[in-house]
Amino acid sequence: MNDAELYHKSNNLQKRDAFECLQEYERRIKWKKDALIIDIGCGDGSVTAAMMKQFLPGYRKVVGCDISAKMVQYASKKFNSENINFMVLDIEGDIPQSLRCEFNHAFSFYTLHWIKQQEIAFKNIYDLLQDGGNCFLIFLGHMPLFDVFRILARSNRWSYWLKDVDRFVSPYHDCQDPEKEIRRMMCKVGFRNVDVQYKPKSFVYDSLEAVKKAVKAVNPFQIPEELHEELLEDYISIVRDMELIDKVNNNESSVAVRTNYNLIIAYGEK
Ligand SMILES: C[S@@+](CC[C@H](N)C(=O)[O-])C[C@H]1O[C@@H](n2cnc3c(N)ncnc32)[C@H](O)[C@@H]1O
Repeated sequence: MNDAELYHKSNNLQKRDAFECLQEYERRIKWKKDALIIDIGCGDGSVTAAMMKQFLPGYRKVVGCDISAKMVQYASKKFNSENINFMVLDIEGDIPQSLRCEFNHAFSFYTLHWIKQQEIAFKNIYDLLQDGGNCFLIFLGHMPLFDVFRILARSNRWSYWLKDVDRFVSPYHDCQDPEKEIRRMMCKVGFRNVDVQYKPKSFVYDSLEAVKKAVKAVNPFQIPEELHEELLEDYISIVRDMELIDKVNNNESSVAVRTNYNLIIAYGEK
C-alpha cells in the first residue's frame, strides 16, 4: 500500500468513484469561498489535485494528509503548489492542536475502511472542522477483495503472510446495516444533518493484468517482493472460482473481470 507510483497508475476505480460522488453531492457540499479543505488519506495525491482542479476554483486551499510518509513525499513532489500542500497525519491518532477547528470541508476517499477505531477517526474529523464546516467521506463496505484475502489467509501457502487478515477487512464488510451504524456513530460524535448511503457499484477490469496491478497497489500485507506474483496468481485463481471472470467475445485470452461492491457515502455538518 506504500507504493505511490504503482497506486498512481492503478487507481482508476477509486478516481471514478470519487468524481462520480463529488458530482452527485456538489450542491449539498456548498463550497465555501476561500475555504480551507483537508483530504484525509490522500495517497499519491492525484485525486486531491484533480478534485481541486475540477471542483474548486484556484483561490481555495487544500491540505492532503496521509499516514504514510512515502505517499506524502510522492504527492508533494508531484502536486505541491500554491494551493495544495501535503502532510503526514494519522486520522486514528492524536490530532495536533494547530489543526483543530481549522477546516471548512473535510474529505476522505477510499481510506476510512482501513481504520479499526472508527469512532476515534470520526471524532478527529469532527475536531478538524470549524463550526459550520462539513465532511464528505467515501469508503468501502462489502467488497469481494476482502473475501479473496480471507480465502488466501486460510490456505497453507499464505496463512503465515496473511495472518492479520481481519485487520485489513472493512469494518462494514460483514455489517448488516452499515447506514444505521455509521449514522449513529456520526450523530454520537456531534455531526448534524447526517446523510449516509450504502450504494451498490460495479467496475470492470479489462484484463487479468489490470486486476493484478490494482490488487498489488492496495495490498496491505508485508510479503517479500519475490512472492508477489505467486500471491497474485492465487488471487486470480480464487476470482476464477468465484465466477467473476467473463470471456469477451468467447475469446480465451480476452477477459473482463467484474467487481460488484458496496460503497459508503457519508456526509455530515458541524
Ligand atoms: C487506497 S488509498 C486512497 C488514496 C486517495 N484518497 C484516492 O482516493 O486515490 C488509502 C490511503 O489511506 C492511507 N491511510 C491508511 N490509514 C490511514 C490513517 N490512519 N490516517 C491517514 N491515512 C491513512 C494509506 O496510507 C493510503 O495512502
